[in-house]
Amino acid sequence: MSKTFAVIGDPINHSLSPNIHSAAFRDLNLDCSYIAYRIPRGELKEGIESLKKIKIDGFNVTIPHKIEMMKYLDKTDESCSLIGAVNTVINNEGILKGYNTDMDGFLDPFKKKKIRIQDTKILLLGAGGAARAIVAGFAKEKAQHITIANRTLEKANNLKQFANKIGLNSDSITIENLGSNLEEFDIIVNATSIGLKNEPSPISFESIRPETIVYDIVYLPMNTDFLKKGKQKEATIIYGYEMLLGQAARAFEIWHGTEAPYNAMKKALLGGI
Ligand code: ATR
Repeated sequence: MSKTFAVIGDPINHSLSPNIHSAAFRDLNLDCSYIAYRIPRGELKEGIESLKKIKIDGFNVTIPHKIEMMKYLDKTDESCSLIGAVNTVINNEGILKGYNTDMDGFLDPFKKKKIRIQDTKILLLGAGGAARAIVAGFAKEKAQHITIANRTLEKANNLKQFANKIGLNSDSITIENLGSNLEEFDIIVNATSIGLKNEPSPISFESIRPETIVYDIVYLPMNTDFLKKGKQKEATIIYGYEMLLGQAARAFEIWHGTEAPYNAMKKALLGGI
């Protein structure tokens, strides 16, 4: 029987998820379709009811509904309750179960490249929803310490408390006060939206070592100034699209119970950006 999937959010017309998942269906000859469905803020309840009526098999959730969607779930996976936000839902005869694949998606490139996180020192820029999933990922992989730097100190402090609570030693600072001596960090991640509009890197790369991992979660443009500066220092680069693919592959596996065709999905994504 044919299956239907969707991504819900607003704005939604630039979402790359329909391309990625459709490519996976074609690759595996699955009789499935995946649509982008715009649900404006404040209309989530009605939107979910419509999706249930058409017996949607599963859907992805994006801005602005990732947190509010928690209210409409019948069941939550551990990933989802830990992070407090949902990005993937499976519909089993009207019972909605939520997952958060951001954490596994974020960790996926480390696994593929065989980069160890255990005992490393991390610098994380940003303290929003994505940063929270990233902190959970670093805690899971037993990083030694994380410094959370954010424009707004209060949000960095909140995320620091979350990190400490789940067993990851951390401190917080404003990006402004970070300074230029960043030599001690093994992994540096940009989880702010800086770069989406081609803004320059918020940190100085003066002291960055070639052994450093530089990871940007912004995937459009693919080559942000942050990553370009990392490349100039010969650091190992992880692109935002690698996380996007990782989380899409994990969602695919939740829905279909089979390994995602990563290369077909990657080809579709890179053709689209
Ligand atoms: P997401 O779900 O993608 O994490 P979010 O929760 O809105 O989105 O978080 C956005 C992050 O980008 C925040 O850390 C935000 O900093 P503030 O907490 O100070 O708002 C950061 N951010 C966005 N625009 C920024 C800018 N121009 N300079 C510095 N940080 C910025």
